[in-house]
Amino acid sequence: MVRALHAEGASVVVADLQETGAALATELGERARFVRTDVAVEADVAAAVDLAVDSFGRLDVMFNNAGVMGTLGPIDRTPMDEADVTLAVNLRGVLCGFKHAARVMKPQGSGVIISTSSPAGVLGGVGPHVYSAAKAAVVGLSKSVAAELRPFGVRVNTVIPGAVVSPMTAAVVADGADDLAGATTALGGSALMDRALTPEDVAAGVLFLASDAAAYVTGVTFPIDAGMTGIAVDRRTPVGNTRTP
Ligand SMILES: NC(=O)c1ccc[n+]([C@@H]2O[C@H](COP(=O)([O-])OP(=O)(O)OC[C@H]3O[C@@H](n4cnc5c(N)ncnc54)[C@H](O)[C@@H]3O)[C@@H](O)[C@H]2O)c1
Repeated sequence: MVRALHAEGASVVVADLQETGAALATELGERARFVRTDVAVEADVAAAVDLAVDSFGRLDVMFNNAGVMGTLGPIDRTPMDEADVTLAVNLRGVLCGFKHAARVMKPQGSGVIISTSSPAGVLGGVGPHVYSAAKAAVVGLSKSVAAELRPFGVRVNTVIPGAVVSPMTAAVVADGADDLAGATTALGGSALMDRALTPEDVAAGVLFLASDAAAYVTGVTFPIDAGMTGIAVDRRTPVGNTRTP
């Protein structure tokens, strides 16, 4: 997403817990900054927003994308301390992002805030419980904030990516977080289209929502999931909608 926004001419602040973001910012050069950020810590998120404004003069796009799978397992054995951490990153982090982006965008009179939910936020049985709860909350929070910010010229939307090739999925479906090739093969094999969903596919949707082409689009939950959340399970034999000659 950072690369996609940067390629479109945006100046970017990479705000991530991992220092790998520093190498990316260095590679991208003058129009990129990195700040180590724990999105669950409000002061970190505030500092990331301030860095964007101090460096580039404004904040046009906020992408609340950081997330963790978090605590796993049956509901009756959920460790509450792990649940708190899962919610802190996946929900509180997004809330912090909204708060501090809005602090800049409201007086600016423009801006776009996009957050990443998940199929698990709208469908049962496709993700861990607390992760699913947080991702559902992201949809509700986004719609609520969209209503407040519309009069200020600020658009607020959510994306729902299907299973994307990334370290998060590689840790589950392949030989560890670094095995992106293994994740591509595994997710390609179970994909609803002819290949696995890539970060570039997700970035294309986010770029559209961030762009002036989406000037009339706010309050939407936008799936980039090959119909995972919108089409009935047995998608290869649609019932009653095919005409036999
Ligand atoms: N991979 C999927 O199949 C999938 C599907 C739907 C939604 N999502 C969501 O997409 C987003 C990106 O996930 P991904 O697949 O690229 O996973 P990823 O693990 O590759 O990337 C997540 C990023 O978030 C960062 N992060 C984690 N905790 C953080 C914190 N407390 N503060 C700051 N940064 C933090 C990580 O360092 C990492 O760079 C997440 O919100 C995830 O829930 C992923």
